[in-house]
Amino acid sequence: MKTIGVLTSGGDAPGMNAAIRAVVRNGIYNNCKVYGIEQGYEGLINARLKEMTLSSVADIIHRGGTFLRTARSEEFRTENGLKKAKNVLDVFGIEGLVVIGGDGSIAGAQRLNENGITAIGVPGTIDNDLEYTDHSIGFDTAINTVVEAISKIRDTSSSHGRVNIVEVMGRHCGDIALYCGLAGGAESIILPEIPNSVDSVCQKIIRGKNRGKLHSLILMAEGAGSAVEIAKEIEEKTSMETRATILGHIQRGGNPTAFDRILASKLGAKAVDLILEGKKGLTVGMKCNEIVAIEIEKALAMKKKLDMETYDLAGILSI
Ligand code: F6P
Repeated sequence: MKTIGVLTSGGDAPGMNAAIRAVVRNGIYNNCKVYGIEQGYEGLINARLKEMTLSSVADIIHRGGTFLRTARSEEFRTENGLKKAKNVLDVFGIEGLVVIGGDGSIAGAQRLNENGITAIGVPGTIDNDLEYTDHSIGFDTAINTVVEAISKIRDTSSSHGRVNIVEVMGRHCGDIALYCGLAGGAESIILPEIPNSVDSVCQKIIRGKNRGKLHSLILMAEGAGSAVEIAKEIEEKTSMETRATILGHIQRGGNPTAFDRILASKLGAKAVDLILEGKKGLTVGMKCNEIVAIEIEKALAMKKKLDMETYDLAGILSI
């Protein structure tokens, strides 16, 4: 019988519960003992583990957040933190650890691999900033949340004839803004990856106004600046009343979409299969609809590319 562990780390993402459930259920199905580790690497260091049963993960597939809770652990980044984590894994006889989280969490898994512990990564972040997977768990739910919010903003924007600028999450990666900009019919999309001057955004707003458009919607990623500041500038330059909305953590919560639940179930189960096959140093993902496993080192070295086709299309359709 193998003993495995599972934790969620970094920013939470809808679908993480479905991934934990898949790890626990596929582990137990394969006669493993499975420990759930609370609060990510922080909980690992402090030995906050509990043995999972089939019913520990009942009724969670549809819930947002992560029932194991999460944390960003500074201590785990230190040599001493790593040593403590290794000791706990040794004491509980954990032969394979599944780490569900974003790039920082998966880099943490790699540190464990380099120190003789088998750790497999599962991408869970609303940012979708990992190049090696087409989707990370939580992204689909987050963009659906944003699109729903945009529809509401659109109603009031058009009643008042205003410009509305909506700031979404994404410190370095503009995927949420990009795809929601396309899905929400935004006039302009402002991303950290592409310089887009406020003047060109204003020109588009004025062109739309002259053609009789009732409102303008602009999507921007948080990493591209401050929506409040840009709203002020747009108001000054276009003389149109402009409002800024920062959607914030609403994007990180909510029931996961069917897509995220399915993705999380497949990726969580695959991570367990890899441990049982004796694989290490890998992270799972989805490329062109196929579940894939690649070396964490390679995965983290890949620079996230912006989907220029989608960006250009959004530009054409909002002409
Ligand atoms: O999960 C990623 C992310 O949502 C970023 O887009 C955002 O900047 C950050 O997390 C904020 O996270 P927190 O408020 O938990 O530090």
